[in-house]
Amino acid sequence: MTGPVRVAVLGLGWAARHIWLQRLLRHPGYAVTAVVDPDPQARAAVQADAPAVRVLADVAHLDPAEVDLAVVAVPNHLHADIAARLLRQGLTVFVEKPVCLTSDEADALAAAERVGRGRLLAGSAARHRADVRALYEAAQEVGELRHVEASWVRARGVPGAGGWFTDRRRAGGGALLDLGWHLFDVLSPVLGDPVYQQVVGTTSEDFVAVGDGGATWRRDDAGGSGDVEDTARGFLVTDAGVSVALRASWASHEPLDVTRLVVEGSAARLELSCTFGFSPNRVGESSLHIVRDGRRQALPLAGEPVGAEYDRQLDQLLPILSDPSAQGRAVAEAQRTIGLIERLYESARRRPAVAAASR
Ligand SMILES: NC(=O)c1ccc[n+]([C@@H]2O[C@H](COP(=O)([O-])OP(=O)(O)OC[C@H]3O[C@@H](n4cnc5c(N)ncnc54)[C@H](O)[C@@H]3O)[C@@H](O)[C@H]2O)c1
Repeated sequence: MTGPVRVAVLGLGWAARHIWLQRLLRHPGYAVTAVVDPDPQARAAVQADAPAVRVLADVAHLDPAEVDLAVVAVPNHLHADIAARLLRQGLTVFVEKPVCLTSDEADALAAAERVGRGRLLAGSAARHRADVRALYEAAQEVGELRHVEASWVRARGVPGAGGWFTDRRRAGGGALLDLGWHLFDVLSPVLGDPVYQQVVGTTSEDFVAVGDGGATWRRDDAGGSGDVEDTARGFLVTDAGVSVALRASWASHEPLDVTRLVVEGSAARLELSCTFGFSPNRVGESSLHIVRDGRRQALPLAGEPVGAEYDRQLDQLLPILSDPSAQGRAVAEAQRTIGLIERLYESARRRPAVAAASR
């Protein structure tokens, strides 16, 4: 490929405007040539910032010959449909998380990727955070892996409360699908691809049910209820006996938004405390500790601006775009992730319903 990668951005909402468009527009390796959104206001806002970009109302008007890469940042229920259609046309498609909502959708994406011979790429920015990379590096020292914990617990951070994010039909699920997808994604390099013998989970909706806990940084604090969970907890055990404890909460009783990753092995335990995402209600600095032989030692971490992982992911996409071995990789991970999320939801559904408590 010579010259910058020609990009179309589909969906011009919060993620496109606050994460992707500004980064793509200033990155020398990419040229945004088209944007698509049925909403005239969203189109007008982008047109004002990027007058040279073709602005379309419908993905059907996108000419695949004029685009090398499509970035799909539409509401969740449209991801698989739109991505599969573009993949069948031979495009390479970067899909925001959650890549898909069911295993059937994941299989359809895999088939579309094979037919069109493009590549499916997935939003997995958190792996590119400096603190997470330091955790991966230090994980070499924990010995035999025994247990992993991953939690992302927001004080208040229900996205788009009352809109599509909290509507099961369009979102596919709540905090588990939204934040939990990131957590599985981050754990993937640590855990590999094990068989999970046991998967149990619970969900609750104490905040979403009463329209409490909107994400202020998205200006989503106007309220509005929904029918998805705001909290999911899971416990998984691999066939090698490694246990995984997971918690994803859009809202909680906590004062700050905290992401914690713990990797415990036969020789040591690692603890990373930080805040994923863009919430201003974050822990001051990320911290990474190693605990062994009764001593707890801080490991050095390079500081970085909020959102640096998205720049890094864009840098790392460029070589992948011309790497034939990348075909099938992201879709295989999406198949694993959605499979586990389905099992957690299934487990939560089998439990007696817990009514939302009055708060
Ligand atoms: N990686 C991250 O950190 C991160 C952060 C926020 C959101 N996201 C993901 O990005 C996606 C979008 O989220 P958001 O917060 O921007 O939502 P949003 O509601 O703000 O924006 C969605 C946009 O898609 C547009 N749209 C609807 N149907 C369309 C179609 N057929 N073709 C083109 N555009 C269409 C809507 O008009 C809207 O402008 C979601 O899947 C979400 O999970 C990821």
